[in-house]
Amino acid sequence: MDIVGKPLLDKPHRDHPTLEDTVTDERLHLTGKVALITGAARGQGAAAVELFHELGATVIATDVVDGADVVAGLDRAEFQQLDISVEQDWQRVIDHVIDTHGRLDVLLNNAAIHEPADFLSYPLDKMRRMVDINLFGPILGMRAAAVVMGEGGSIINVSSNDGMRGRPGNLPYSVSKFGVRGASRSAAWDLAGRGIRVNCIMPGAIDTEMLHGATAGVNLNFIPLRRLGRADEVAPVAAFLASDLAGYITGAEISVDGGLLA
Ligand SMILES: NC(=O)c1ccc[n+]([C@@H]2O[C@H](COP(=O)([O-])OP(=O)(O)OC[C@H]3O[C@@H](n4cnc5c(N)ncnc54)[C@H](O)[C@@H]3O)[C@@H](O)[C@H]2O)c1
Repeated sequence: MDIVGKPLLDKPHRDHPTLEDTVTDERLHLTGKVALITGAARGQGAAAVELFHELGATVIATDVVDGADVVAGLDRAEFQQLDISVEQDWQRVIDHVIDTHGRLDVLLNNAAIHEPADFLSYPLDKMRRMVDINLFGPILGMRAAAVVMGEGGSIINVSSNDGMRGRPGNLPYSVSKFGVRGASRSAAWDLAGRGIRVNCIMPGAIDTEMLHGATAGVNLNFIPLRRLGRADEVAPVAAFLASDLAGYITGAEISVDGGLLA
């Protein structure tokens, strides 16, 4: 068989794991990894803090609001205030992570805002603000993190089922979440040479404050599994993508939506 093209990394691929290997495989664990999670004060971010810590990672939980509660009682976790739309915040927190922990292996770009918005009447500055947080926030995060991450780094961006389709009164959020998918796929190309993987999760209707705050109601008849998702059902997908078991997955998008878009 002819193989054309020069490998980006000069090390050989690891052997492919068998199913028995996988169940107890340490590569599923996050031991030794340092993970930064945004929007971690509540909801899906808080669930990810708990699971990543349980799997052995050192976790830097961040949020624009105080989230110190989330790391209370966790021995390898700390909280740092970080507004994802502010470049200087990213630099400060990333500098702190490197000074304190010496490395950064995983960035979970989870934070976002959502508000119903009829684009004909919704104020333009609020529309720009939503895109600034939801799309430029993760982009700023990837720029700040990629330069300090070593080979084996993993970036996980949280988009949405609203990044796959339009809905009435949802234009700014939808635009931002379509953008997150584009940013993830593009960054997957641009960061592959550094050995950093970039993937995207698209949650469906997950039972968090965001869903309750921004949605008048959910019709379960449109969800094949006929229920809302839980934050702790999204976190394992992020943990898998963060782990070395996902070493050949980059530029991918995984829906966690009970089949909403099936
Ligand atoms: N809940 C759902 O149904 C649903 C569906 C699809 C996608 N999502 C996405 O999942 C992710 C997590 O959402 P959630 O359901 O946990 O929502 P949530 O509202 O419960 O949590 C979002 C967190 O982000 C933080 N945040 C907001 N603006 C920030 C900023 N500028 N800087 C830093 N942190 C900021 C908030 O303080 C909050 O703690 C988001 O990206 C969201 O768009 C959620």
